[in-house]
Amino acid sequence: MKIVVAGTGYVGLVTGACLSEVGHNVTCVDIDEHKVAIMKQGISPIYEPGLDELLKNNYDAKRLEFTTNYKNAYKDADVIFIGVGTPEREDGSANLNYVYKVAEQIAQNVEKDCLVVVKSTVPIGTNDKIEEFLKEHLVNDVHIEAASNPEFLAQGTAVRDTLHANRIVIGVESDKARDTLKGIYEKFNTTIVVANRRSAEMVKYASNDFLALKISFINEIANVCEIVGANIEDVTKGMSYDPRIGDKFLKAGLGYGGSCFPKDTKALHWLANDNGYELKTIKATIEVNENQKYKLFRKAKQRLGSLKGLKVAVLGLTFKPGTDDLREAPSIRNVRRLLEEGAKIVAYDPVGIDNFKKLFPTEIEYVTTPEETLKNADLAFIFTEWNEIKALKLGVYEKFMKTPIIFDGRNCYKISDVEKRQIEYHSIGRKEVLNILNRGKQEAAITRM
Ligand code: UGA
Repeated sequence: MKIVVAGTGYVGLVTGACLSEVGHNVTCVDIDEHKVAIMKQGISPIYEPGLDELLKNNYDAKRLEFTTNYKNAYKDADVIFIGVGTPEREDGSANLNYVYKVAEQIAQNVEKDCLVVVKSTVPIGTNDKIEEFLKEHLVNDVHIEAASNPEFLAQGTAVRDTLHANRIVIGVESDKARDTLKGIYEKFNTTIVVANRRSAEMVKYASNDFLALKISFINEIANVCEIVGANIEDVTKGMSYDPRIGDKFLKAGLGYGGSCFPKDTKALHWLANDNGYELKTIKATIEVNENQKYKLFRKAKQRLGSLKGLKVAVLGLTFKPGTDDLREAPSIRNVRRLLEEGAKIVAYDPVGIDNFKKLFPTEIEYVTTPEETLKNADLAFIFTEWNEIKALKLGVYEKFMKTPIIFDGRNCYKISDVEKRQIEYHSIGRKEVLNILNRGKQEAAITRM
């Protein structure tokens, strides 16, 4: 069986690599020549643990091919997975241009019966429309069918999430499509949920939106914890032993970012609205998240008044650890605000600096160790809970900073540990530690406040 994957972003490339890893012959198609050339050398164009190795091994074993020649790839394919992006439009709806472009190319080139599997996250009803579109644009007399197969991988753990998926959802309208997909996924040894196409499409949105809702819920509870003197971590721990609640996705912080939750919450809200239904829970989820992103900035403003001329150490830039992705990362908006305030920023991130430089090439200084970031800083912001940052001893802040004032958006430190130090510490949903600064220069800092 010849499997082709269209698009080599997170979804497409990881899908292609993992399908070849379990023994399928896979061709990955991308329009970008440069990307294809580097993938052939076993180098992943995206930062994703374990992916380079999979690319190299399966390419060397001749199970995995990369090409820009989509005509050749599609013409004799049995199954074509579409894994291209569905970015958000201005109004929050999903932009399906890339998906339709690929569908058009498929229809014009397939020369044998073919199953087109949509992995990209698409609004409910899209698979039906894609099938119609494919049939309308077919050039050759072949049977073509669309199936939905939503993707549940998370960035940073994409290979593991795919090879050890907790479930695979397939949305099909025929036994043939069901059997083909079941056959492809047999070796993944996991539960395969078979549904119709619309239900499978909804599983994806409902899953992501539910997780986003959990995050916004716990962030609101954290905000109230701060007001009433409770500790969010004790609260979530106390909740988590109830198996109906669990302990996942209840970490309070700076709101959800990334390429999925922000886009998928807006898209489902838009879609429901477009059909005359107001999804109130998701509307609130989005609003709470927008607000939460500025949490640290607001705290700093409240504490220090003007930030003009202060040296701010920024620890962590990516939207979460384990990825170089900056999409919807809270660091971006906060850095923008800090710059508007006239702060001087020195930033550290283990892998996100190159991408951040594209957004802020000259406005901020970049360094390669957390210690350098902290040197002579007036305050520090923690935006991402990288291990490199969590491992940083509290003494390092005391040693290097001019005034060790920390705004921690990821609750990297235990309050009981901070309380033992001469550190001022503001985190999320927990009490503030306002230990007197023991530095010679503390007075200068305090005068500003
Ligand atoms: C998410 C889902 O977890 C995947 O299942 C899904 O397949 C993917 O979207 C997608 O639709 O493609 P991802 O965006 O890579 O994956 O990242 P997550 O690990 O889910 O984190 C999303 C955001 O939520 C991050 O900003 C993270 O910091 C935040 N988060 C997560 C919290 O604030 N608290 C938590 O407890 C968990």
